[in-house]
Amino acid sequence: MGFKDGFLWGGAVAAHQLEGGWDRDGKGVSVADVMTAGANGVPREITKGVIAGKNYPNHEAIDFYDHYKEDIKLFAEMGFKCFRTSIGWTRIFPNGDEAEPNEAGLKFYDDLFDECHKYGIEPVVTLAHFEMPYHLVEAYGGFGNRKVIDFFLKFAVTCFKRYKDKVKYWMTFNEIDNQSSFNNDFLMCTNSGILLGDDPKENEAKMYQAAHYEVVASALAVKEGHKINPDFKIGTMINFTPIYPASSDPEDILLAQRADQRRNWFSDVQVWGEYPRNVESYIEREGFRPDITAEDRVVLKEGTVDYIGFSYYHTMTVSAKKVAPDDLTDPRLAEVKNPFVKVSEWDWPIDPVGLRYAMNLMTDRYHLPLFIVENGLGAVDKVESDGSIHDDYRIAYLRAHLQEVKKAVDLDGVDLMGYTPWGCIDLVSAGTGQMSKRYGFIYVDKDDEGNGTLKRSKKDSFYWYQKVIKSNGEDLD
Ligand code: BG6
Repeated sequence: MGFKDGFLWGGAVAAHQLEGGWDRDGKGVSVADVMTAGANGVPREITKGVIAGKNYPNHEAIDFYDHYKEDIKLFAEMGFKCFRTSIGWTRIFPNGDEAEPNEAGLKFYDDLFDECHKYGIEPVVTLAHFEMPYHLVEAYGGFGNRKVIDFFLKFAVTCFKRYKDKVKYWMTFNEIDNQSSFNNDFLMCTNSGILLGDDPKENEAKMYQAAHYEVVASALAVKEGHKINPDFKIGTMINFTPIYPASSDPEDILLAQRADQRRNWFSDVQVWGEYPRNVESYIEREGFRPDITAEDRVVLKEGTVDYIGFSYYHTMTVSAKKVAPDDLTDPRLAEVKNPFVKVSEWDWPIDPVGLRYAMNLMTDRYHLPLFIVENGLGAVDKVESDGSIHDDYRIAYLRAHLQEVKKAVDLDGVDLMGYTPWGCIDLVSAGTGQMSKRYGFIYVDKDDEGNGTLKRSKKDSFYWYQKVIKSNGEDLD
């Protein structure tokens, strides 16, 4: 009973949200570098290149580039067994289509992973976490272009070879399923490097094509990775969002199933090595059958993933009063509020039981180990006059979720590899570009306008999580 020995307790971040140093040591411009700061309910602007005078929060972020030794020391003090981060694609291939990688970028991650190992912290690495080289968007149309598969593969293989003795746990694309909301500029640009047009049908067709190239790129990477080091564990990474019907009306039930099919097929392909029937029939019926070759189908079978890495933030509730089941395209269009769950300051449903439900759904569907690589509460923190930060709301959120995780493990038999809460140190929000939407156990002194000393300090949750790890998840009080 309880979490297994060697359970990977840690925390998760992404390069572009904390490193800063956006143009240091040969790094190129990524899609995150052309996104301005938004606000709660205000989307980030995606500019055509970097425009002087605009506020691009990822350019400096929390300057982990210069602070990583200090930060990893703090993670070690909390007892981290692992640290999930990504490799900034543009540090390694600044434009994405170079013949040779940038040595200074490779060296940075060598040093970073060495620093982790110094404390017995295992790096867990995402290859593409919303960091595509902007040049690939401009010159190739992102993953709308088959050529980008080769660029991604080259990046992946370069990283696998360089870090084959330093990194064992990998994921290919962060939240590859986010683009199921294909009318959202931010999600399409970060997932696929696609800039949208005005016609929703065309956008949907573009998404199915780009996503296909991504699952092929992912499968090729898995296949090559296993050749480079057979001990590698390479996972998918999905933003698993269980879909609830708004009522027991059979139309709502059918709609919830449709929404699940529209949203959760990406990992089906990555785990089974083939498309589910419902997707094949949908894209055929809609007339936007993408370019899928017989060779692609072989590749998909050969490059299936080893585990399910997933983020869990919330569930989604859908109602057939908004969209009829057979008319459903983007599941978000059918979303309604769930009266049984509270929401965060950013209006995200808070549903710990949904996490247990999600873990069971994925275990039943995939028969693979799970790894919770993101979970957490974005909230405004207040620094007291003595410098302390009493984030009891964050502790309550994480405790409630871990209680459900424990039930999934103890009572339902779910095989769980680890737990890495999101934003273990405060960083730039991906969705809004804000610093004030904080997730961390460690506070970073910086505001939404970019002012602050960047000083790190421990929140109450730091000590709570330290205790959780020390007791291997037994002491959640
Ligand atoms: C996930 C992403 O979607 O959620 C992270 O993988 C992101 O990059 C996290 O930061 C939280 O979202 P947000 O918009 O609050 O930063």
